[in-house]
Amino acid sequence: MNISQTPEKIRALIAPLRGQRIALVPTMGCLHAGHISLIRKAKYLADVVVVSIYVNPLQFGENEDFNQYPKTFEKDAEICKNEGVDVIFHPENLYPENGARVTLKVSDMSNMLCGIARPSHFDGVLTVVNMLFNIIQPNIAIFGEKDWQQLAIIRRMVSDLHMPIEIVGSEIIRETDGLAMSSRNRYLNPSERQQSLVLSEVIRLIKNNIQQGEKTTKSINLGMDNLKKHDISPDYLEIRNEITLQPENTITPQSRMFIAAKIGKTRLIDNISLKTESENTL
Ligand code: PAJ
Repeated sequence: MNISQTPEKIRALIAPLRGQRIALVPTMGCLHAGHISLIRKAKYLADVVVVSIYVNPLQFGENEDFNQYPKTFEKDAEICKNEGVDVIFHPENLYPENGARVTLKVSDMSNMLCGIARPSHFDGVLTVVNMLFNIIQPNIAIFGEKDWQQLAIIRRMVSDLHMPIEIVGSEIIRETDGLAMSSRNRYLNPSERQQSLVLSEVIRLIKNNIQQGEKTTKSINLGMDNLKKHDISPDYLEIRNEITLQPENTITPQSRMFIAAKIGKTRLIDNISLKTESENTL
């Protein structure tokens, strides 16, 4: 396994491999089973797997956890090696000395859901993902469904900007008790860890209620009551179309339930498709 730290080095390394199917798995490191599932999918779908590990400053807001974000590179490299990753791209900095001057902006899809609490977050994500696409020029790139809004916006970027890259979504990996895995879960103290379970429980509860014929507004209100009971006031608890991210008034096979809430100081997100099991297998 090779570790490259500059765009020039990784380009030179990949040049002779073009013609094979190259997959990119972009990450910010602190790898857990969620990231590993993306790497395994990449291995299955491609001949060459590149994992990028870069904590992108542009996607963090002023009062967010950029300086605190866990850095576990040695352990991450070990995981990648064991998973048969071909190349790790681990740049120190991808921006010009005087900061980002050319950035990407997404309109409607970023001023909702997580975009409200994190106004420039998705512009930062798109800018760095675009850089990574330009540097690696992968045939496919794998993203987790845990960050559904990110995945939907990246799909939009690739489609609107005619990028010749296939975007593959990968299912949410959860702890055994249901909490969606996240590098930020390590910020939770034991009582917050317990409280965080309510997020996945509530969206499952709402899905069950809707599938049993309950009205969506009533089901969401019930979910809100449940959150309140556990002292959680969510940033949002909403049903949206999973492609356009627009609100949905009636349930369709593209309806998805989204939640975000702060547990202590840690902001967590989760989502679930409202498709029935039979629709899932279609
Ligand atoms: P990061 O949070 O490290 O996540 C890297 C990838 O792992 C993302 O595609 C994310 O959706 C996926 N992932 C995280 N937790 C997951 C889980 N429990 N199940 C399945 N997939 C999971 O997302 C980012 O980094 C950054 O925004 C990035 C795309 C790298 C751009 O900087």
